[in-house]
Order: sequence, then C-alpha cells, then structure tokens
Amino acid sequence: MQYALWIGLLFVLTGVCIVIILSACTLFRSLSGIVTKKHISFIPVPDGALPLLKRITPPSAGAIIYDLGCGDGKIVLYLATLFPEATYIGIEYDLLPYLIAKVKTRKHSNITIRFKNIFKEDLTKADILIAYLFPELLDKLLPKLEKELKKGVYVYSFDYAFRKKEAQTIEYNEDASLKRGKRMLVYEF
Ligand SMILES: C[S@@+](CC[C@H](N)C(=O)[O-])C[C@H]1O[C@@H](n2cnc3c(N)ncnc32)[C@H](O)[C@@H]1O
Repeated sequence: MQYALWIGLLFVLTGVCIVIILSACTLFRSLSGIVTKKHISFIPVPDGALPLLKRITPPSAGAIIYDLGCGDGKIVLYLATLFPEATYIGIEYDLLPYLIAKVKTRKHSNITIRFKNIFKEDLTKADILIAYLFPELLDKLLPKLEKELKKGVYVYSFDYAFRKKEAQTIEYNEDASLKRGKRMLVYEF
C-alpha cells in the first residue's frame, strides 16, 4: 500500500516537473525573443483601429476567420461581437499574450486560441484572414498563403503591406490622429 503511494507521488512530481520545465522554456523563448528581437513582440492594434473591421466582407455562418498572431485576442473578440455566427481561430506563439487571449475568450464557444507558430498552421480551411504583422513576416508568409488559401479568400492586413502582392483596396481610418491602425489593406487570393 505504502509502495503504491510512493509510486503515485513519483508520478505527480514528474508531472509537476515537466510542467515547470515546459513553462520555463516557453517563458525563456518569449523573453529572449523580446531581447534579441528575433521574433515580433506583441504590439496590440489600437482600439481606434478596430472599427475598420466593420468594412470586411460579412462572413457567412460558420465561416472560419483567422487572426494570424492574435496577441491578446482583441481582434477575434471584436469580430465575434460583429459577426457572432462565424468561427474564429487566433494563432499566437508568445506565451503571455496567448494566455491572456485564452482567458479573455474563455466564454466564447466560437473562438479558439492556439499556442502555435503561424507557419505550422494548416490554412486550407480558412475563409478570411486578419493580420497585424510587420512586412518582413508578411513577405515570409506570402508563399504559404498562395499555396494553402482557397481561391477568393480575403486577407485584411492592418497598416502593413505584402511587398510582392498588390492590395485590391485600402480602407483608411476616419480617425487621422492614430499613429498605428491608420489603414487596412485588402487582398484577394
Ligand atoms: C503586432 S502584434 C498584433 C497582435 C494582435 N493581432 C493585435 O492586433 O492586437 C503581432 C503578434 O503576432 C505574434 N506572432 C509573430 N510571429 C508569429 C508566429 N510566427 N506565430 C505566431 N504568432 C506570431 C506576436 O507574438 C504578436 O503577438
């Protein structure tokens, strides 16, 4: 009996150690990313930019809408109030914003937040993509989008443009005082 207790305790301790090591690794990755600037840190889109999302093509019920690099989930939460019939997937690889997004979206059954690199996500089922990513990352992402996206999928990019793809239109923010979130570029794939 005592022997079984020790084995159980050993299992619990091993589990706790694994969780601590994994958390430390992801936290280290987040912090080192910020220090070395090797990956883009979390810069939320300003609240004043969100109304631009009212101009996206209204999604049909069940449409799958992605926010690539969803940060704290601000964009998916805003869209979910505008178009509650759609399904939202936020992808984020930075631990802290990911955890915040998870907590903030916990009551929304149509929002999923994935702790993942966007380059590892299969985008073949996406109907609409939203991005607020720097041009270098958009450029790196372009071949994947061209390969995986269904024909006619719209990509809406706040502020930044793909350097090798022309925007179909550009929606400008009425609030000209904003430093970020001044415009939303619309791309059709
Ligand atoms: C400029 S922030 C925008 C956050 C959010 N979309 C918003 O508008 O508030 C870009 C986000 O993309 C995330 N990101 C950058 N590269 C990524 C990648 N390869 N995979 C997943 N997330 C990434 C960053 O961690 C950051 O949170």
